[in-house]
Amino acid sequence: MPAPKLPSTPTLRVWDLPTRLYHWIQVVLVALALGLGFFAPEWLLNQHVVIGFALVGLILFRLVWGFFGSYYSRFSSFVPTPGRLRAHFSGILNKQSAPAGGHELGHNPVGALMVFGLIFVLGAITITGIVTLGGVENWGPLAGFVDFSTGDRARAVHLALAYVLVVMIVAHIAGVFAESQRSRTSLVRAMVTGDKELPKGRTFGQPDGAKKGAALVSLAGLGGLAGVLFYLGVQVPASGFIQMAEMDDFKSECSDCHELYHPSLLPEESWTLMMAGLEDHFGEDASLSQDTTLAIGTYLERYASEAWDSEAANRLRVVDPEKPMQISASPFWKENHAQIPEEVFKTRPVRGTGNCKACHGDAESGRFDDSKISIPEPTPERES
Ligand code: HEC
Ligand code: HEC
Repeated sequence: MPAPKLPSTPTLRVWDLPTRLYHWIQVVLVALALGLGFFAPEWLLNQHVVIGFALVGLILFRLVWGFFGSYYSRFSSFVPTPGRLRAHFSGILNKQSAPAGGHELGHNPVGALMVFGLIFVLGAITITGIVTLGGVENWGPLAGFVDFSTGDRARAVHLALAYVLVVMIVAHIAGVFAESQRSRTSLVRAMVTGDKELPKGRTFGQPDGAKKGAALVSLAGLGGLAGVLFYLGVQVPASGFIQMAEMDDFKSECSDCHELYHPSLLPEESWTLMMAGLEDHFGEDASLSQDTTLAIGTYLERYASEAWDSEAANRLRVVDPEKPMQISASPFWKENHAQIPEEVFKTRPVRGTGNCKACHGDAESGRFDDSKISIPEPTPERES
């Protein structure tokens, strides 16, 4: 720790430029991530994810800067020890104006608790986000390693932590304004300019600067490691999907009247039932020779939803007991498509809830990725 030397300046550069940039970039990214996470439609998930990865980079930077940044940015300068917390609270109770000591020019101990808390919660949010992405969406560096149910549980934690984060942000802003009042300095402005006015009659030294070389090397090392892990992770095939044999009969016979539905979209029992009653298939006669019926039936049962761990297979496995053969009657399907205006399904080019391909660019693969969703503009029918 540097010895106080130069009392000549009335202000002191407390927040170095990287710390200020980190702070405000984080404000923007967290606001975007929360906004997209809570309010955006499913097909903007990719944007949410990209921001999440940017936040991972930002957190890595802050961890490095907490060791090699300039004095007030270093974790060691604001460890919220019980002693410091006690002194801080007794200062508040005795209505002393802050700052009381050298470390209060930087983060006060309560602010420090918030800094560590925010880094921890944000870190946990990004980790559970990546686990969710891998398990539920079968995407990202963990797609090959996390199963659906683990991903779904991570999703619940991810969401709960997002609420915790919102509460912490509100507390953080309230704390900043309260402390600005108490210390009669604008902490917001200080985080913009980096400078804080020095209390009269006290002397503070110019704090020692950052170890930029060490910071750069560590950041490059950590970033490189993260990049390599990411790269290796995405090379592993997603665990939700299996290799499926091709079958010509299925492809030709079952795509005459509608698109070819992926076998993973219904459970085994539903396919068995459907293949046993092709002569009355949703009011149409779709009957085939006995051999072909048997072959297609065996194929569909083999690749039914039970064989997959994708999001679509897991969600659509639960069918409507009244209409066990209709994918678009299942509770998940109805819930997920309830927001879509009725007329979209009634007019061209969709025409019917069973026309998955009209909105899901990857329906044929059974993936149903969020990024492949797009609802086409309804075009009025022109009867001639
Ligand atoms: C003769 C035409 C015809 C043939 C051939 C046909 N289907 Fe269908 N299929 C229909 C009709 C009509 C519907 C009902 C469409 C709707 O209500 O949206 C339907 C609906 C379905 C559905 C439910 C879709 C949803 O909306 O959830 C599935 C699954 C399905 N068919 C599978 C098959 C399979 C498997 C085969 C091949 C063995 C097949 N179909 C062959 C006409 C046909
Ligand atoms: C009119 C367009 C449209 C049609 C037709 C349609 N979907 Fe969707 N689907 C959507 C939209 C939009 C969403 C996202 C809803 C949301 O915001 O959560 C969605 C979500 C889904 C999801 C969840 C994806 C995820 O990652 O959350 C699945 C699975 C799905 N649809 C399956 C189907 C199947 C199977 C069919 C055909 C039987 C179908 N959809 C027909 C528009 C459509």
